Amino acid sequence: MMPRKYLLSLAAAAVAVGAVVIGTPVLTTAPAAAGTVVEVWKSPSCGCCGAWIDHMKEAGFTLRVHDMDDVWPLKMARGVPETMGSCHTAEVGGYLLEGHVPAADVRRMLSEKPAIKGLAVPGMPQSAPGMDIPGEPYEVLTFGGSAGTTVYARY
Ligand code: CU
Ligand code: CU
Repeated sequence: MMPRKYLLSLAAAAVAVGAVVIGTPVLTTAPAAAGTVVEVWKSPSCGCCGAWIDHMKEAGFTLRVHDMDDVWPLKMARGVPETMGSCHTAEVGGYLLEGHVPAADVRRMLSEKPAIKGLAVPGMPQSAPGMDIPGEPYEVLTFGGSAGTTVYARY
């Protein structure tokens, strides 16, 4: 028979492992994320766009990247509000993503299926995924819903 103390430490270890798995976005397999294709349009010279693409890949999405010199006309044609523009524009599951939207919020949107056009992180907040310099609070906003622009997440 195993000593009780040993069993307890095994249980503690299992809890710790479980916590790590849950806390690591890469290992979180919400059904909506795994293999879901994200189409991205960006300028070939955009470094932070590439870093956001890596962030999305690490979260389990499949990225299809389209380089173009001027993404702005595409943003406007697709209906990204002018005031919410960022570097890249993406599309996933019929939704638009503008800028450095965290993968966790994309996953949540895909599972909740809100009646909105998409999510945006306007401008380029330095703390957002793909920018990765902590310290600047930012918001993830919805657009195109009946309630207009709402805050979807705060970081
Ligand atoms: Cu950027
Ligand atoms: Cu970008």
